[in-house]
Amino acid sequence: MRVLNTKNYEEMSALAAEIIGAQILLKPRCVLGLATGSSPIGTYQQLVREYQAGRLDFSCVRTVNLDEYCGLPAGSPHSYRYFMDHNLFNHVNIRLENTYLPNGTALDMEFEAQRYEMQIENLGGVDLQLLGIGHNGHIGFNEPSDSFPPTVHPVRLTSSTIHANSRLFDRIEDVPTQAITMGVGTILKAQRILLIAGPDKGEIVKKALYGKVTPQIPASVLQLHRDVTVITCEEA
Ligand code: GLP
Repeated sequence: MRVLNTKNYEEMSALAAEIIGAQILLKPRCVLGLATGSSPIGTYQQLVREYQAGRLDFSCVRTVNLDEYCGLPAGSPHSYRYFMDHNLFNHVNIRLENTYLPNGTALDMEFEAQRYEMQIENLGGVDLQLLGIGHNGHIGFNEPSDSFPPTVHPVRLTSSTIHANSRLFDRIEDVPTQAITMGVGTILKAQRILLIAGPDKGEIVKKALYGKVTPQIPASVLQLHRDVTVITCEEA
């Protein structure tokens, strides 16, 4: 595992974008695993700048996102599809049909979970997976539990995650209580993993990277992957 310490959010974002950009240059038809939340917004802004400067071409890139809320109406500004379109996809030359997220409005979530897992496999698997980390150590929406979920699955969100994510909604009652997420096993199948941890994540990152590997801290499983890069902020 490589831990790269940067001074602040801007430096963290620039470095993460450099690594993602390098992946696209090395393999233009790569499959990027993408994340939502506050942590990757700066990274996506930097990627858009690189595209606008003519240094990156997304025309052959495929993307699969980690997770999606369940039950939000199609087009909801709180959906992760909306987040991805507005923070990245609409600003670069990626083909929208090459951008995949789980369908949070599917009628049968178990079926949708199996379908999405297969979809990732059919694309040939993820070359580089970008991850954020929740304050309780969650990755994607894999919440602390007694085991590591192997595949894409529906989840009930913990009250701490609902609370943390309520900052983006008008009222806490509007935050969905369920989501669908890649499993820890799905995430570990990526060739490379890039975890970005903003200034507010120092404590949990230390626990996850240097503590014992336990499903109570889902991100701790990254210690077992052969190619993980973690970018932290000095302020953390
Ligand atoms: C959400 C997402 C995660 C993300 C986490 C941290 O719950 N499902 O994928 O990593 O929040 O978000 P933030 O970067 O905003 O702290």
